[in-house]
Amino acid sequence: MVTAFAPGKCILFGEHAVVYGQPAVAVSIDAGVEVTISESNKWSLEGMPFEPSKHPHISHIINDIFQYSGSPLEIDVKSGLFSAAGLGSSAALSNSMGAALHHLTKPEEPLDLISLARIGHSAEANAQKGRASPTDTATSALGGCVVVSGERVEGTEHIFDSTLETPEGSRSWSICRAALPELEDIWIVLGFTGIGSPTGKMVAGVSELIEREPQRMDDIRAIGEITSSGLESLSEGNMEGVGLAMNSCHERLRNIGVSCPEIEGLISAVQNHSLGAKLTGAGGGGCMVSLTRHPRRVAECIEIAGGKPLISKLGSGGARILPQ
Ligand code: MEV
Repeated sequence: MVTAFAPGKCILFGEHAVVYGQPAVAVSIDAGVEVTISESNKWSLEGMPFEPSKHPHISHIINDIFQYSGSPLEIDVKSGLFSAAGLGSSAALSNSMGAALHHLTKPEEPLDLISLARIGHSAEANAQKGRASPTDTATSALGGCVVVSGERVEGTEHIFDSTLETPEGSRSWSICRAALPELEDIWIVLGFTGIGSPTGKMVAGVSELIEREPQRMDDIRAIGEITSSGLESLSEGNMEGVGLAMNSCHERLRNIGVSCPEIEGLISAVQNHSLGAKLTGAGGGGCMVSLTRHPRRVAECIEIAGGKPLISKLGSGGARILPQ
């Protein structure tokens, strides 16, 4: 029996624009997904017969990546993340499945987090019709603060490069790590609207909008510039600057049609207690994030406004095998 854990992620800046090569900055969060696998005499997932077509991430990893031909597996998944909510639950699932299967099949080989990030990205891209940046999977695999961009970003540590054939052509990203300053009195509070929103659909929607209104590429480029200045503030420990950049990023995300009334409601509810607030992830529902020194107060505001809060520090550890 093997159990692996991979954290969820919160994009501080740059969602959607990163699909077009602009930089994005994401941090891993405390909550994540735990996968336990054990050899059995029949395939099962959560005690039910495993149907590969219903679980494209898991079946891609088992069949296409590992080409696993061993005994059937009993697979159990425990998630501390809201799903289809912009917190990278499918990336965390792919990474924890990949880590567990790696350990089961090659127990003597240490887990290589870069290979794991590539496995996770392949599973995401396969499930999202070829449109997925490596942001979610790299952040969940590596942990900490990850910067994903079309070009290497100054002041960050380069970790690996990634290329993907998308319906819009070939895309390449550089995945770097940014050092986080000591952030003792700073938290993020995620607020789930309760509305699940599939990333693939939202990404396709932005692509259609840009085709109809090419001037929307200005918003994509502006998100790139805001991301760079937000990253600079983050590296300096200037959290007021980070908050302002989050607010500006949200305005641009609104322009490309990925906010919704429920996200706007949660953002207004937390404004008085936040350094900054924005949607995080694909939008269209899902989650918003507040950067704050008053996490309990913000969590209360989210609950009163009808959302579900999740408090986290910024940049917890990455994917790992858990002791049995
Ligand atoms: C989803 O968490 C982030 C998006 O930018 C999609 C992606 O990067 O693949 C919306």
